[in-house]
Amino acid sequence: MSDSTRGAALVFGGARGIGAAAVRRLAADGYPVAFTFVSRPDSAQALVQEVAAAGGRAHAIQADSASADAIIEAVRQAVEKFGLIKVVVVNAGIYRAGTIGDVSLRDLDEMLSINVRAVFLSIQAALPHLVDGARVITIGSNVAVRTGIPGASVYQLTKTAVAGLVKGAALDLAPRGITVNNIQPGPIETDLTASMIEALKPLSPLRRVGQPHEVGALISYLAGDEAGYMTGASLTIDGGFTL
Ligand SMILES: NC(=O)c1ccc[n+]([C@@H]2O[C@H](COP(=O)([O-])OP(=O)(O)OC[C@H]3O[C@@H](n4cnc5c(N)ncnc54)[C@H](OP(=O)(O)O)[C@@H]3O)[C@@H](O)[C@H]2O)c1
Repeated sequence: MSDSTRGAALVFGGARGIGAAAVRRLAADGYPVAFTFVSRPDSAQALVQEVAAAGGRAHAIQADSASADAIIEAVRQAVEKFGLIKVVVVNAGIYRAGTIGDVSLRDLDEMLSINVRAVFLSIQAALPHLVDGARVITIGSNVAVRTGIPGASVYQLTKTAVAGLVKGAALDLAPRGITVNNIQPGPIETDLTASMIEALKPLSPLRRVGQPHEVGALISYLAGDEAGYMTGASLTIDGGFTL
């Protein structure tokens, strides 16, 4: 039996960027993929159609990760559509620049809410619907290893928290054979980085930034049977930025 015959995939924040790459790749791997979006219904529907045109199955669910109830409802809809879940990717995340002296309370609270609280709640909500041996994958950031630029202290705080969370969650879920791992991308060309991407390229040892599909390939690996002995890990994929 192949990996993909054992359940569905659910991607939180899947309409654009790295999340969309996760949806594309997991659908290509044979999983039916439910994914959430919050602000881009057009992107979400276009992705559903793109996946269908390629022979896969995807389903878009509007759900703001700031709301615990919305997360629970998204999981319910995903399970109703595609059945029990084999792979959960918690990708939804935001970045608001600001030094520790000037970051606003609102930005602090929003980043903690989406980048930390929602990651915990998404895993917790999915838990009753995960098959034994399921894969939980979070998207952290290489800033948990090294930030390198000022103005990212809160973002670094949130992504470091995710690296810690996966260790505890991995231990909690090990008895069910469920693995929990964290991918830490460096600069990837998405809407989130559009304003800074050209400035970042020369700073990279590889003289380029990453593409979303390159993170999608790592997600595919972690989702598969061959990654079954890896859990609680944070894997950095950043072209050498943090070396
Ligand atoms: N790009 C990078 O260089 C980079 C590097 C390291 C880590 N990361 C992390 O990778 C993840 C994805 O980043 P990206 O670059 O692909 O960002 P992006 O292009 O801005 O996409 C963000 C995604 O998250 C979703 N999202 C944001 N807030 C949400 C909310 N409240 N509820 C539900 N979904 C929400 C968005 O949904 P809508 O489309 O509906 O708005 C979108 O699909 C984030 O966790 C980010 O921190 C990115």
